[in-house]
Amino acid sequence: MIDRVSNVSPSLDESSLVYSIDDYLRRRGHHRAGSMWGDLLRAIEQEYPGQGTSIETGCGTSTILLSNLSRSHTAFCIDDRNSENSSVTFVLGCPLFNQPCVDFIYGPTQVTMPGFEFKQELDLALIDGPHAFPFAELEYYYIYPHLKPNALLIVDDVHIPTVFNLYRFLKEDKMFSFVRKVHTTAIFRRTESPTLPDPLGEGWLQQEFNRRHFPVYEGYEKLSGHVPGWVKHLVPVRIRAAATALLRNARKRPIGSFCGR
Ligand SMILES: C[S@@+](CC[C@H](N)C(=O)[O-])C[C@H]1O[C@@H](n2cnc3c(N)ncnc32)[C@H](O)[C@@H]1O
Repeated sequence: MIDRVSNVSPSLDESSLVYSIDDYLRRRGHHRAGSMWGDLLRAIEQEYPGQGTSIETGCGTSTILLSNLSRSHTAFCIDDRNSENSSVTFVLGCPLFNQPCVDFIYGPTQVTMPGFEFKQELDLALIDGPHAFPFAELEYYYIYPHLKPNALLIVDDVHIPTVFNLYRFLKEDKMFSFVRKVHTTAIFRRTESPTLPDPLGEGWLQQEFNRRHFPVYEGYEKLSGHVPGWVKHLVPVRIRAAATALLRNARKRPIGSFCGR
């Protein structure tokens, strides 16, 4: 989560839970990894009927919110209590935090999720832990078989290019319907569609995204496909290789001033 604004959202009802969480955030400041706030917390509150079983990767204001909305909530996060402005201390120190409903599973999700036994089906899962590729996908892998029909799947920071790829995939997958995007957070709802692929199987062609976009050609391959073979043979091999390399490199544009973390 990348910090957005540190003010309380002006449109919130002052008696609401989200208003109080925002107020804590405003007085306390963001924790080290940046927090969800305002519109986004309100969107979760609006879309989630509550009283269910939820999990999240990472922790922060979302943990405070879900500790109040869910019957039982699990946060998979690093125990950063020895670091300055720790996310865990931020949560534990909040008077609104409903600790009895929450289990913390400390450690990198790359290590803790594979061995975790999901005893209950999930009504909500939020992916907002480590953001480098392929960690969001890895977390998704351990989560998707456990989502109930109608469960919410929330993916944060979809403006990060590799997380955006996951977002694009989910938008087309039959297991999900897209609910809405708030700033850079995407909310999906699990459909009644069967859980595919089998987590231990194959099945890429059962996935809508792959069905729609297969086969993928890179730009230079597409162009090359339009040139008749007899023309190619008239061009000396070295010139053909140079043209291919040129077209390939033309595709590699710098991302520009993306906020690096
Ligand atoms: C962007 S913050 C989460 C913000 C939170 N959702 C909120 O609303 O305030 C990312 C969180 O992921 C945790 N984290 C980073 N790398 C992790 C990893 N490999 N495994 C588990 N948690 C990780 C950080 O300590 C931090 O709590």
